[in-house]
Amino acid sequence: MSRKTIIAGNWKMYKTNVEALQLANQVKIKTKDIRHTGIIICPPFTALAAVAEVVNDSAIAVGGQTMCVEKEGAFTGAISAGMIKSTGAIHVILGHSERRQYFGETDELVNKKIKTALEFGLKPIVCIGETLEQREGNITAEVVTKQLRGALADLEPQHVDRLIVAYEPIWAIGTGKTATPEQAQEVHSVIRGAITEWFGETTADNLVIQYGGSVKPENAESLLSQPDIDGALVGGACLKADSFSAIIHTAEGLKR
Ligand code: PGA
Repeated sequence: MSRKTIIAGNWKMYKTNVEALQLANQVKIKTKDIRHTGIIICPPFTALAAVAEVVNDSAIAVGGQTMCVEKEGAFTGAISAGMIKSTGAIHVILGHSERRQYFGETDELVNKKIKTALEFGLKPIVCIGETLEQREGNITAEVVTKQLRGALADLEPQHVDRLIVAYEPIWAIGTGKTATPEQAQEVHSVIRGAITEWFGETTADNLVIQYGGSVKPENAESLLSQPDIDGALVGGACLKADSFSAIIHTAEGLKR
């Protein structure tokens, strides 16, 4: 298996520019010994360029948290893929459940955004995940497969090779409730199975599937030890350099 473990931090709507630079600098210092684990930080748009410059001479990659599906135009307040790329960022989170819930993003829109992002050389982190009601209704596998199918519609294996998928059960995001490693592994294996069926075994074997939802230093090891969990998308615990770097060091210690 050749998959690298990748830990990404989604800063959400936190950190002014001064705070962002401080955090980025601290993460850089605390992770300078990391050799095998991929690190991505996703600050707010306002801090993207400055943060990208700070980590430019490190192994840390930078990503946006969303983007507009349009390439350019009269869309007041929107940020395009080209603009994100021009900051030095190389990733973009797409279809996060908060974007779906508060900004009405659908699988169809996520699909279009993925295509635009790829066109501009960005590597999307595509988020999918079920609600508590759907989990309790025993339709998690169905829901997640449908979201993935919609998000990846019309893509070829070479496109999927440039993606990361993040499984984030909505009921575990920001709630302190984490899926058990077994629950998460089960869904990750469903996701890899679907990718195998649609895009072939090589693409599925190489696809990094992150888990997200209240990942913290205390639960990182048990989650990241699962065979199909290839990293984490971290919210709350990435806002402090100590906890974020602890998760990264855990991943590094489990090096595959
Ligand atoms: P959390 O957020 O770690 O605070 O649960 C994860 C995410 O939304 O990506």
